Amino acid sequence: MIATRVLAVDPDRPDRRALAEAAAVIRAGGLVAFATETVYGLGADATREDAVRRIFAAKGRPASNPLIVHVADVDMARGLAARWPAAAQRLAEAAWPGPVTLVVPKVERIPAIVTAGLDTVGLRVPAPAVARRLIEEAGVPLAAPSANRSEHVSPTRAEHVVADLGGRIELVLDSGPTAVGIESTVVDLCGDEPRVLRPGPLTRQRLAALLQVAVGEGATAHGPARSPGQHGRHYAPRVPALRVESLQALARLRPEAGDVVLVVGREADLPAIEGPVVRLPDPETAAQRLYAVLRDCDERGARRLLVLMPPDEGAWAAIRDRLCRATTAG
Ligand code: TXA
Ligand code: MG
Repeated sequence: MIATRVLAVDPDRPDRRALAEAAAVIRAGGLVAFATETVYGLGADATREDAVRRIFAAKGRPASNPLIVHVADVDMARGLAARWPAAAQRLAEAAWPGPVTLVVPKVERIPAIVTAGLDTVGLRVPAPAVARRLIEEAGVPLAAPSANRSEHVSPTRAEHVVADLGGRIELVLDSGPTAVGIESTVVDLCGDEPRVLRPGPLTRQRLAALLQVAVGEGATAHGPARSPGQHGRHYAPRVPALRVESLQALARLRPEAGDVVLVVGREADLPAIEGPVVRLPDPETAAQRLYAVLRDCDERGARRLLVLMPPDEGAWAAIRDRLCRATTAG
């Protein structure tokens, strides 16, 4: 056990002393959790194998799951890329700082442990000033996965980080709840066609519009498993969680007191249901609140979480992806 300190900081005008303290922890090979616009990340010096090893240990994360490297700006990203495709430049200009991670060939300076042995690296410039100033202050790129225990729900508040990783990391910079709420879109730019490896806030349709080319999805044959960590149970609450696609199917589960019903992206009138109903009407609200709702179900000791899924449409792709990983079909 190590003592985990929590420092409150303003997300837009972070206190210099707090940043200096956090940067010192990073330079000493330690772990600092900080907010990005998506979820809290667990940061370490991406150029130091010993520091990055501690991320995997603190999370209980399998070594086969590569980490995203966070940089302060496009120039810093280019310095870590062995090749910088035109599509990377285009997306960086259009979408950074922002919730999209670009997978490109990596330089030697990034140790193999960061990328799970892949010859590519996922790079992203996070939006909040606190995140970018921390990177600048530390003077190194930050490897940072979501700051939760492996397979648990990603953290959107500092309290979530402390609940999962308290006693395992040196510092949490608490700058309040994250704005977007679900993890970045991961786009592979190493092949002939850009591919979405993990759906996220920037939709595939939007990426295609920005790049003016077709954008695929899922892993390809051009390399090893291109989206390791994207299978199996993930983002899961502890409460038994079931998903259904229609009101009729929801009724068949016979919601009762003690269950939490989560209605995502539907206006539909529900039949009379006992117990709390949480509605997430649009994709932005759903992203922002989803993980807190999942964690709340655990906290209040809900019997079951019953999810009425949003429509199978592009705007909901990322939310559907996370909900599918968090639940089993009911
Ligand atoms: O929004 C986010 O992306 C957050 C914040 C903290 O930036 N980070 C995050 O990291 O969600 P993590 O480690 O929980 O998820 C990283 C995902 C994994 O699915 C991993 O497989 C994929 O990115 N990834 C990272 N590097 C990759 C690479 N070189 N090739 C393919 N996939 C990669
Ligand atoms: Mg994660």
